[in-house]
Amino acid sequence: MFCKPVKLLPKLLPVFFSAVGLLSSGCVIYPELVEKGMYAPKSERCGDCHKDIYNEWKNSPHARSFTNAEFKEETNTYQFTFCLGCHVPETIFTDKKIEPRSENLAEGVHCNSCHLNDCKLSGPTPAHGPHPIHEKNQFFRTSEMCGKCHIGTFLAWQKSDTIEEKKTCQDCHMPSIKRKLIQDDPWQKIYPKREGKQHLFSSQTLFDTHNTLLTMSFIKVIQCNGRIEGILELENTGTPHGIPTGDYGYREVVLTIELQDEAGRVEDLKKESFFVEMKTALQYREKRCIPFYFHYDGDSYAIKATIHRISFHKDTDILLAEVKYTS
Ligand code: HEC
Ligand code: HEC
Ligand code: HEC
Ligand code: HEC
Ligand code: HEC
Repeated sequence: MFCKPVKLLPKLLPVFFSAVGLLSSGCVIYPELVEKGMYAPKSERCGDCHKDIYNEWKNSPHARSFTNAEFKEETNTYQFTFCLGCHVPETIFTDKKIEPRSENLAEGVHCNSCHLNDCKLSGPTPAHGPHPIHEKNQFFRTSEMCGKCHIGTFLAWQKSDTIEEKKTCQDCHMPSIKRKLIQDDPWQKIYPKREGKQHLFSSQTLFDTHNTLLTMSFIKVIQCNGRIEGILELENTGTPHGIPTGDYGYREVVLTIELQDEAGRVEDLKKESFFVEMKTALQYREKRCIPFYFHYDGDSYAIKATIHRISFHKDTDILLAEVKYTS
């Protein structure tokens, strides 16, 4: 399927009076950016102008969704073609099942997977680029968009009752930023800064900025006859899906409770894992009490609890929450 350059003359008139408009929507100078099939552009090409967004995306899990060793293994080296749609989509703008593309597979969920919409590059801002563009598309601001692939997480989000100011997936996983959308001449000289979104698709930075997503507290700690006993309470106070969440792959979070002596040395520890598959993920607003005990003869001590999300190969390790009790 090929996209023909759009007839532009009628579109030119309304924008004729703005200098930006003149340079931009007037001329579809880059029709190759909306090609499909063997002429489809690589994301690198988008990165010639959208440098910052490209660099964010390139380091995100979406850029690894095909090359990921686990995915390769679980699909029997890409034999299970029904797995490919969400991992190397041509475009999500379809009413039918999302179809895999045939080129640039190593890029996984790439720019055009999410932005190519009916021979235009679609986005939510009033931006008016020099390429075929469909601006102010508010679908990009909805959780439904992410839910096209993150089905289970989306259903959990839908049921969560964060009514007050219900946050979308983008609010948390694509932090806001005001900047130019392009970092290349001549375009960056012409276009103003806009309210945009970082393409990080990660939970790595979330706990630095929000401390209400997952909370932990010691509700009881006693020491008696050489034994310390206590209860730690965990609550998913603000993450509108399970911790961990997802339908595929290895999803684990690990709680560690450790006993430290006066000098801060670890004397003993207890670990407990929560998995999606085992139905032990901490659901939205769920509270869970974890009892623990240690043998300890000393006087003063500290108990530290941490919760991490780890990947199968332990190469990702994100600290989600931490709390410390000192005697
Ligand atoms: C075309 C399908 C698709 C769409 C649409 C999509 N994702 Fe993803 N997403 C994936 C796939 C596949 C992965 C797994 C990548 C990997 O780790 O190999 C993923 C991974 C992620 C991860 C990382 C999960 C982890 O294990 O750390 C986050 C966070 C995420 N997506 C958020 C989003 C958000 C927010 C949106 C909406 C703006 C979105 N995704 C839209 C397919 C999609
Ligand atoms: C030659 C430079 C150039 C290239 C290459 C380019 N863009 Fe753009 N793009 C622009 C400019 C300029 C704007 C408008 C910026 C503004 O108005 O602030 C823009 C705007 C956009 C928007 C914003 C739409 C909206 O309304 O929110 C999206 C989405 C977009 N481009 C996606 C892409 C994708 C995907 C690719 C690769 C297939 C790409 N662009 C390649 C220059 C480029
Ligand atoms: C998983 C889907 C997804 C992928 C992949 C993706 N985007 Fe986006 N993009 C979005 C969403 C969602 C928004 C709007 C977020 C919002 O405003 O809430 C957006 C917004 C934009 C915008 C508008 C300005 C802004 O910062 O919000 C531009 C330009 C853009 N993307 C370019 C790109 C380029 C270039 C790539 C590849 C390097 C890319 N996108 C990859 C989903 C995606
Ligand atoms: C209020 C903020 C918030 C919102 C809204 C939100 N998330 Fe998350 N998300 C988090 C936090 C915090 C984590 C880290 C905890 C964890 O790993 O479960 C996370 C983790 C994830 C992960 C990583 C996988 C994993 O194992 O946990 C994915 C994928 C994800 N979210 C997708 C989504 C999608 C899709 C939506 C929208 C339907 C969404 N999130 C809405 C806060 C949010
Ligand atoms: C409906 C879209 C969809 C389909 C179909 C799909 N996946 Fe995924 N896959 C995702 C999303 C979204 C993620 C991100 C984690 C999550 O939310 O489960 C993911 C993540 C993964 C991961 C984990 C990557 C990581 O680093 O954590 C593996 C492995 C995986 N998928 C394998 C498969 C296999 C095998 C199939 C076919 C049986 C398949 N997927 C089909 C959407 C899909």
